[in-house]
Amino acid sequence: MKKKDFMWGVSISAHQSEGFAPGDGKGRNSSDFASKNTRSVDFYNRYEEDLRRLAKLGIRSFRMSVDWSRIYPNGDDLTPNETGLAYYERVLKLCRELGIEPIVTLSHFEMPYRLTQSRGGWRDAGCIDLFLRYTETVFQRYQGLVKYWLTFNEINFAVTDKSNLPALGIQNPDGKDDPQKRFQALHHQFVAAARVVELAHRKYPAFEIGCMLSYFAIYPKTCDPADILEAQRKQGLLNHFCADVMIRGHYPYFMDAYFRQQGIRLQITPQERQLLAENTVDFVSISYYTSNTVSARDRTEVCSGNLVGGVINPYLQRNDWNWHIDPQGLRFVLHELYERYEKPIMIVENGLGAIDRVEDGKVHDPYRIQYLREHIGQMLLAMAEGVDVIGYNLWSGIDLVSASTGSVEKRYGLVYVDLDDGGNGTLERIEKDSYYWYQQFIQEQTGRRQV
Ligand code: BG6
Repeated sequence: MKKKDFMWGVSISAHQSEGFAPGDGKGRNSSDFASKNTRSVDFYNRYEEDLRRLAKLGIRSFRMSVDWSRIYPNGDDLTPNETGLAYYERVLKLCRELGIEPIVTLSHFEMPYRLTQSRGGWRDAGCIDLFLRYTETVFQRYQGLVKYWLTFNEINFAVTDKSNLPALGIQNPDGKDDPQKRFQALHHQFVAAARVVELAHRKYPAFEIGCMLSYFAIYPKTCDPADILEAQRKQGLLNHFCADVMIRGHYPYFMDAYFRQQGIRLQITPQERQLLAENTVDFVSISYYTSNTVSARDRTEVCSGNLVGGVINPYLQRNDWNWHIDPQGLRFVLHELYERYEKPIMIVENGLGAIDRVEDGKVHDPYRIQYLREHIGQMLLAMAEGVDVIGYNLWSGIDLVSASTGSVEKRYGLVYVDLDDGGNGTLERIEKDSYYWYQQFIQEQTGRRQV
């Protein structure tokens, strides 16, 4: 990719930013219940002001998501909700008007809540057809506005027994883990994702479809071969398994043994295997926040991360939520991914969650600037070393509701939003110091001046 085409951008998701608005026809989605307040940062009503402010950064791309329950409120409705369709059309048109390339995720940790109740969410194969109905609707409607699409955000979450999986119907509603059902639900998502690729390649050849993975650097704690093997095991399960299915088109060999050991017997038809093989993605997208250090002797998770925790890495600092901060890990994973898959890579999330404070109407966040500067620096080194990275979209453009905590106080944005977890605040936006830093940085990289 030419330097001038590189997609410097920012990222958000629908359910973490939009909020509900009376009369918008939106159904509840499975993640709406996770947020501590219902209006979120009200991107739904303020998208115009927000996008114009973000455009002033000089960004070339904006990674967002469509909320399925805005388009099909119950998931199995026969006709779409025009209000929801028109809303995203306005957002996407404004992006184009501002010279911004939208990158759209079809499912960012949500599905219509009704489907999780009536069908058990993704555990039911019937959701595949419903997801395709929704996808066809948005592909058809936004075909002239969107080129880059992502299927499921951080699909590899389902490999663990954590987090928001009950909400997606990947885990049982009582949160009790059932690996058999969890991996079958994940398989249904793989099939849905492959059918999205098939649809795009057949009907919309201008589209580029990517998978989206939460990707980690995984290190052995010591050079003890037992630690090395443990790191390799975790790497296979967390990083490579889902990526292999969607990029190489088949389940990797080591999953057979894993499923046997866990007593899991997946129902996969020969037609589905063929579908997966014939419909692999055009590019790879990842979120990168942290690295994971593992020990064969001690599997207690002392540190956290957005997907899994691990043992303490004495060479790294940690953020307030006990996630390691590891810029070099980003360079490591970019090489690792590119070597294995040889596909263009788009970074669609990377950023620092922190408690920010307003002082005299300003937000000074040198910690975030340092995080971003160091991570971007390592990405640029990886690119100079030959890795084909096509975009960097930091998380997040504006403050929004954190996925793991449901709290707005864990802030990632370049733009501060006056809101607390009790729902109090004016929703006023304030550019943080990191906003001006990124603006300046993009200008240096691209030579484009902002007005
Ligand atoms: C990723 C998700 O896991 O990390 C985002 O795709 C999420 O939705 C981000 O917000 C940061 O995680 P958290 O839990 O701190 O919000």
